Amino acid sequence: MNILEIIAKKRDKKELTKEEIEYFVSNYTNGKITDYQAAALIMAIYINGMTDSETFYLTYSMANSGEVLDLSDISENVVDKHSTGGVGDKVSIVLLPIIAAMGIPVAKMSGRGLGFTGGTADKLEAIPGYTTSATIQEFKRNVKTVGISMITQTMNIAPADKKIYSLRDTISCVDSMPLIASSIMSKKIASGAKKLVLEVTYGKGAFMKTIEKAKILANEMTKLGNSAGVEVKCVFTKMDEPLGYAVGNTLEIIESIEFLKGRMKEDLKEEILKIGSNMIYLAGMGDNLEENRQRMIQTINSGKAFEKFKEMVQNQGGDVSYLENTNKFKKAKYIKDIYSKKDGKIIEQNAEKIGTLACFLGAGREKKEDVIDMSVGITLEKKVGQRVRLNEKIATIYANSEQKLDYAIKKLEEIIFIKNIEKN
Ligand code: URA
Repeated sequence: MNILEIIAKKRDKKELTKEEIEYFVSNYTNGKITDYQAAALIMAIYINGMTDSETFYLTYSMANSGEVLDLSDISENVVDKHSTGGVGDKVSIVLLPIIAAMGIPVAKMSGRGLGFTGGTADKLEAIPGYTTSATIQEFKRNVKTVGISMITQTMNIAPADKKIYSLRDTISCVDSMPLIASSIMSKKIASGAKKLVLEVTYGKGAFMKTIEKAKILANEMTKLGNSAGVEVKCVFTKMDEPLGYAVGNTLEIIESIEFLKGRMKEDLKEEILKIGSNMIYLAGMGDNLEENRQRMIQTINSGKAFEKFKEMVQNQGGDVSYLENTNKFKKAKYIKDIYSKKDGKIIEQNAEKIGTLACFLGAGREKKEDVIDMSVGITLEKKVGQRVRLNEKIATIYANSEQKLDYAIKKLEEIIFIKNIEKN
């Protein structure tokens, strides 16, 4: 078997065998297949798709490319969650401390930014000192002692996905159904939780642009999870505009802290309660979703969720004084408010375009080795459908380069689309 034959076969739209997929996954993970060969194969998969069997074999080869965790010694009720990606999506950072504060163990392995979407691991690293790397023993110990740990894929969990994921990000091969399904489910199967809530996003700021495609992806991931004995519940989130108001790593952490302190933004609150009430249900801690939502709100209002977040951050080396006083976070050099040039109504704030602009400012990566600029990004003031007045503030740009700031001002004024309101 050799990689050139495998690339040619996929290029020519033929189905790959289990052995061929395993050969690719193991030899790319151990460095015997080069990045450019892997890029060629991934591009062929992106263009030609995969059959159900190919997706199944790819998922399992990636899941088995490293260690497969057994969390049963922590609890049978460890519940995980994962999102198919979005812009301004800080759900995990806010939600998981709430769930942990309610006594449900959380063992969460998060991804980094991908394409125009942000990654939870990058955002957590905006907290000075917070480390997202841990050994398997440390990870499990943290979950046992604190009730929650949020790390990234630094240990040997699905290393093949880690490599393929960052390669896809730099060759425009992210938004592919079989690649997303296998990427997410390989990590989830390997990270050991037997109950999983999947937030499947769709719309302008998601990889799946329509609800129909999101449902196909959800179905695919559910089948993959069930085949590994994982109980899966999917919830759907429309993502045409960013979730919440902040896009960019530090900015999103600050918005998350505010939420946990009780200042809850409506759209984010709805997502958190929707996903969280299902996590509580799957963990066997409450059959009534409405009651679960109320209990979550009580956990936030009592301060317990914020305390749990602080405990987790401290346990993972983060400086909690930043959580107490968010003014301590390093600010971008240039902070520029944008004002409306007319009286009207916000018609569109395209999440993909805003995510791409935030990446351009430095909040995401263009190349695998790029270092993220934590302080840059965009905050919005309004949601689609809201009224704005002439000269009212509609957004703020945070940049560390004057040139990038100038470009971002022009772009953002185009992206936030305001329509005049007819006067009677
Ligand atoms: N999240 C992942 O973990 N993988 C993808 O491919 C997309 C979103």
